[in-house]
Amino acid sequence: MLNKIIGIVKEASKIMLDDTHFHINEKGSASNLVTTNDVRVQAFLQKELEKLLPNSSFLCEEGDVRDTSKDYVWIIDPIDGTANYARHITVCAISVALEYKHEIIIGVVYNPYQNALFTAQKGEGAYLNGEKIHVSDTPFRSALLYTAFSMYEKEYSHSTFMFAEDILPYINDLRRTGSAACELCNVACGRGDMFFELKLYPWDYAAASLIIKEAGGYISCLDVNTLPLERPTTVVAANTKENQLELIKHASKFFK
Ligand code: IPD
Ligand code: CA
Ligand code: CA
Repeated sequence: MLNKIIGIVKEASKIMLDDTHFHINEKGSASNLVTTNDVRVQAFLQKELEKLLPNSSFLCEEGDVRDTSKDYVWIIDPIDGTANYARHITVCAISVALEYKHEIIIGVVYNPYQNALFTAQKGEGAYLNGEKIHVSDTPFRSALLYTAFSMYEKEYSHSTFMFAEDILPYINDLRRTGSAACELCNVACGRGDMFFELKLYPWDYAAASLIIKEAGGYISCLDVNTLPLERPTTVVAANTKENQLELIKHASKFFK
């Protein structure tokens, strides 16, 4: 099953790389972009993954695809990092997760520009281009934290900057690269150590959540034991349990 999904995702990435029908539109605000290729990639993935697993439902970013009624649910972000993609910044990826009875069992995140294929199957480890990956063991004071500043809901931006300013003296540095899926995968393979974002949607983190867990890391909302997969949530991820708890402690000063 994983290999078939990888084949479909790689095929979909050809649409991503095809400029022929490329056009940028706004979704409600100037910060929220969608390109014609986001829609085309999603349509292709839905068509092919439905054929692969006929009795499955789909939770996808584009359009109004919000059906989680079946045991098997595909959770798809056709392009995570659209603001990068639309500007030819190569930090963006296709993210596909397969959920079975409310648990992610397969995760694939593929950045065709960087030829980076992150994959995980539940209980079988996480891989980057077929090589097993593991989170770092970096302590909190030396950790690199990926974060973002609530660009879609700017009324929350101030508190995200306050959080960033507050935590910076306690860690090594911060990054905002524009693709939550890629950032979470970077934590999974040790190219960074922690992640915090105030509000993400399931399609942003579903696939990467399994990749990070299978790489030995931790991911949750502000409640350390929970990661909702049906609604938007705050996402905290870290290489170690200690760092996850410390990160939640810092974030809880600003967010409930
Ligand atoms: C966005 C990216 C970004 C994150 C946003 C997401 P999109 O996804 O993951 O890094 O900060 O919250 O919505 O819109 O490019 O698919
Ligand atoms: Ca996204
Ligand atoms: Ca997207």
